Amino acid sequence: MTDRQLLVTAALPYANGHIHIGHLVEYIQTDIWVRFQKLRGRKCVFVCADDTHGTAIMIRARQEGRPETELIADMQAAHERDFAGFDIAFDHYGSTNSVENFELCKDIWKSLRKADLIAERDVEQLFDPVAGTFLADRFVKGSCPLCKAPDQYGDNCSKCGETYSPTDLIDPISTLSGAKPITKSASHLFVELEKMHPFLDEWTQGGKHLQPEVANYLKGHFLGNPLRDWDVSRPNPYFGFAIPDSPDNYWYVWFDAPIGYIASTWQWCKRNNESLADWWQSERTEIHHFIGKDITYFHTLFWPGVLKSAGYSLPEFVHIHGFLTVDGEKMSKSKGTQVQASTYLKHLDPAFLRYFYASKLGPKLDDIDLNVTEFINKVNSDLVGKVVNLASRSARFVESVGLSVEYPHDGGLFAAAAAAGERIASAYEQLDYARATRLIMELADQANGYVENTAPWTLKKDPTQHHRLQEVCTIVLNLFRQICIYLTPVLPKLAQQCGDLLNVKIQHWNDSQTPLVGTNLSKFEHLLQRIAPEKVQAMIDESKEAAPAATPAAPATTSETPASTGFNDSGDALLAEPMAPTCTIDDFTKVDLRVARIIKAEEVPEAKKLVKLTVSLGGDNTRTLFAGIKAAYTLEQLQGRLVVIVANLQPRQMKFGLSEGMVTAAGPGGTEVFLLGIDSGAVPGQRVH
Ligand code: 2FM
Ligand code: ZN
Repeated sequence: MTDRQLLVTAALPYANGHIHIGHLVEYIQTDIWVRFQKLRGRKCVFVCADDTHGTAIMIRARQEGRPETELIADMQAAHERDFAGFDIAFDHYGSTNSVENFELCKDIWKSLRKADLIAERDVEQLFDPVAGTFLADRFVKGSCPLCKAPDQYGDNCSKCGETYSPTDLIDPISTLSGAKPITKSASHLFVELEKMHPFLDEWTQGGKHLQPEVANYLKGHFLGNPLRDWDVSRPNPYFGFAIPDSPDNYWYVWFDAPIGYIASTWQWCKRNNESLADWWQSERTEIHHFIGKDITYFHTLFWPGVLKSAGYSLPEFVHIHGFLTVDGEKMSKSKGTQVQASTYLKHLDPAFLRYFYASKLGPKLDDIDLNVTEFINKVNSDLVGKVVNLASRSARFVESVGLSVEYPHDGGLFAAAAAAGERIASAYEQLDYARATRLIMELADQANGYVENTAPWTLKKDPTQHHRLQEVCTIVLNLFRQICIYLTPVLPKLAQQCGDLLNVKIQHWNDSQTPLVGTNLSKFEHLLQRIAPEKVQAMIDESKEAAPAATPAAPATTSETPASTGFNDSGDALLAEPMAPTCTIDDFTKVDLRVARIIKAEEVPEAKKLVKLTVSLGGDNTRTLFAGIKAAYTLEQLQGRLVVIVANLQPRQMKFGLSEGMVTAAGPGGTEVFLLGIDSGAVPGQRVH
């Protein structure tokens, strides 16, 4: 396995806006995966670049009265600062406006021509006679041709959802100058993607390179019909690369953007004495793209088609994630929830967001929600209360003597946590970071149980117990170190602090398998502070103030993505479970939800999916329940944990016994079942309102 060679990319951020917490979902997700692969000893290279071309940049540069190159250089510096601030560690960060990218575009273009995939025809487009430029869809506004709603963009109506072309708008105006656009014809170049249809059917539907819901989405939305030609040129004026064999035309930003993945790899190769062919034209390298669901079309149809016809390697997998919501809503500048990376860093530790996102991210395309209260509680309870607490309740007591020379008897705790390593690794590998962090927190719970039982602070007070104190702290610090190793992909700084404290750097995942003994300790320094809610509020307040007035030069965060090609317009509904009909509060209170503790979890040998749970509702009040969670949890994971049950559900006689209630959980079933937890402090028997 160690000889896997991986090339990993995250989507190239557009040079027209700053990085915000929505973008960071992807960069953190990707960075965790890359760090995990490196920690496992794999050769893994992580490249990215700024996506710099297009009308939006050209217009903004004009408005700011400076060359585009200056604008994109400033933005690139800001992006790189933000990424570094969040510990996103690219091996190379390039730009699509590079010599290498131009070379590759020319080479790939030649191949497309040779394969007879390029067609030329005239396109009628709106033209701003005052600004002297053709207008991309997002630079035209007018009334919707269908519902007549005013002030709609040129690609789709925000009121009725209709998609159309800008020439269909009623009374269009250019958002650049306010002028009435004229219709003008220009020659455009198209990639005839339909010619690649059989290949794309096979590549997308073969079950190897895409999440199943993505493959189905493509089948249902695109592959059932002929694939439309893809317009890859824009007439002068445009900021981009001029097409050598088509004077006065430029490659559309979405043509050269993904080629930037190859260009950035090439730059990395040049600096590291590697051959590009080994990374992009050899079976030896697995290419993994990470993207958001809004740019699915480009990466799963257009891009594989281009790569295939130009003789480059196809991605091994395109990993697609959902969007970020904050407190259940779309991020909003006016509410201060579209927080820029640099604003966040002024107030909060990047580790908090890395951990929170990790705890939410699974392998599917579900949107993830940053609920502010949950964010604060989870970080404080897990990272500070469970993980860092282990070191802060033990390290000081052994600062002068170091760790025991032999690893003491710990009742099997270290060995059990070592054995959990492969389960955690497989969760990381499958991008199920929520599962990985849950498993790690279970280890932290067990370690904290040991601290409670052995109470090092009491041993400290008794001089005859100091040998025992050293043993106990050796165990606690070893469990702490194991947890830090498992958390390294998510929290690289904490891993480094742990290495500094114990004077042995964490270098490999397998360091978790052997206890550390006989080392001296450095002076204990605070590792992480709790999140103060006031700081979160200050960050949100500052984001409200910082929200710029809407400017036509900065449409959204992407470059010129037509809304109708991504998941944006219909994909969400396709992927989400429909909402149940409205119920009244009286309806809701009919369901008696109670906190319960699982006191016994047992196999039901005859049942494939079920486990038998004995739960306590406080005192002698116990119940027996059967739950279909066998594939998702081991009996040990269930034993002792709090759950929320439907306590007044009519008992049900099953083949294996009477089930007296139901355990609540989310997820589709199988290994994807997530029990509802409850914050510590809740006690069995309490009602959930
Ligand atoms: O959607 C975006 O923000 C684009 N800049 C992503 C480009 S990814 C790749 F194709 F370059
Ligand atoms: Zn409409």
